[in-house]
Amino acid sequence: MSDQLANKAEGWSGRFSEPVSELVKRYTASVDFDRRLAFADIEGSLAHAAMLSEVGILSAADLQSIRAGMAQIRGEIERGEFNWSVDLEDVHLNIERRLTDLVGDAGKRLHTARSRNDQVATDIRLWLRGTIDDILQGLTALQRALVDLAEGHADTIMPGFTHLQVAQPVTFGHHLLAYVEMFARDAERMADCRRRVNRLPLGAAALAGTSYPIDREQVARALGFEGVCENSLDAVSDRDFAIEFCSAASLTMMHISRFSEELVIWMSPRVGFIDLADRFCTGSSIMPQKKNPDVPELARGKTGRVYGSLMSLLTLMKGQPLAYNKDNQEDKEPIFDTADTVLNTLRIFADMVGGIRVRAERMREAAAAGFSTATDLADYLVRKGLPFRDAHEAVARAVRAAADQGCDLAELGVETLRTFSALVGDDVLQVLTLEGSVSARRHRGGTAPEAVRQAVARARARLGVSS
Ligand code: ARG
Repeated sequence: MSDQLANKAEGWSGRFSEPVSELVKRYTASVDFDRRLAFADIEGSLAHAAMLSEVGILSAADLQSIRAGMAQIRGEIERGEFNWSVDLEDVHLNIERRLTDLVGDAGKRLHTARSRNDQVATDIRLWLRGTIDDILQGLTALQRALVDLAEGHADTIMPGFTHLQVAQPVTFGHHLLAYVEMFARDAERMADCRRRVNRLPLGAAALAGTSYPIDREQVARALGFEGVCENSLDAVSDRDFAIEFCSAASLTMMHISRFSEELVIWMSPRVGFIDLADRFCTGSSIMPQKKNPDVPELARGKTGRVYGSLMSLLTLMKGQPLAYNKDNQEDKEPIFDTADTVLNTLRIFADMVGGIRVRAERMREAAAAGFSTATDLADYLVRKGLPFRDAHEAVARAVRAAADQGCDLAELGVETLRTFSALVGDDVLQVLTLEGSVSARRHRGGTAPEAVRQAVARARARLGVSS
């Protein structure tokens, strides 16, 4: 291609006397990744064209041509027949050039009263809005799977941990519902972020607005935006909505990662609380006995790349003077990568949770082994009139005695227990059972089977499923 043609191909001016070098062309082009915005780009262009026609800037015939051309382009992209060209820099210029090839001057008129700066900001917002909706669905599906599993294990007793040491017995259902709460907050954050994503930049043009008599509200309505960006300089330059998205996504992945860590621990043969379905695990090429929890491990690892995207975008933005700068072209890959990672993770996890096999007897054994009802014994003595600190001390001595004898508190027997406090009566053995311990905590937010079943019903109502 001649120098002059090369410049023309890029869709901007004859102001330049030499073309960019091949390396610079590739360095500055974004079409390899921003073509993912193609359908959003077309949708935005159609709304813009309809408005231009409405206010008399574009003829009805031109609008007609643009619509027909865009329909054809959409089909070509869907069928994988569209010829993307790096000479045309980005998704916007590729589509505009194809439109002009197809419909002539009408295609060249489309860019009236807009700039790629407000165009790209609009495209990302449209794309991100759709992605957030997918993520919200993924979060709902995962919560539903957790709620279903929790309901089936409202009575299953496991050790609750602090410092990864056996602390007090809890029900497995209760433990799972903790994650339902986390993912519910993640969904709230995503939905809240969506409100700020859902505003229209178009009309800001390059940075200062446009001298044409445009109707921004009409475009906003046509595209389903909740309103327009108030300030043209802000509209084309800030990517805080994308940072917010990555921030909400980071918190989601942090929760996924904590859950993953637990799955890995629970699946370790030393613990053996659960088994994951084979389709989420792999074997070892050398050790035939192995079944590794690859999916949770990988999710734990992928959390890092989402945090990385958040850091990229924060850093991308911090040094930019108003208004648009080319730096912003770098916003897309972190956004796409974050969206892909979170979405795939949520979908896989919803499926994986449904296939968790619980080994209730192993959980129960572990809960019974760690003096997990010691607090219940202290509470028992308090109910009999002993101050809590004295009760704590008496039980600590009992625990030491039981540990020395290699038995649990109940196995010490009532007579021996009474040597630590005269307040111990025959009814003590009842509070030392695992069932007695969990069922005593029956308030809202507690671990009792009855409380878990009520929490399941509330979560279902929130998630729009009937019990
Ligand atoms: N590809 C560009 C981006 O992603 C589109 C906007 C380009 N604007 C400009 N003035 N160079 O940000």
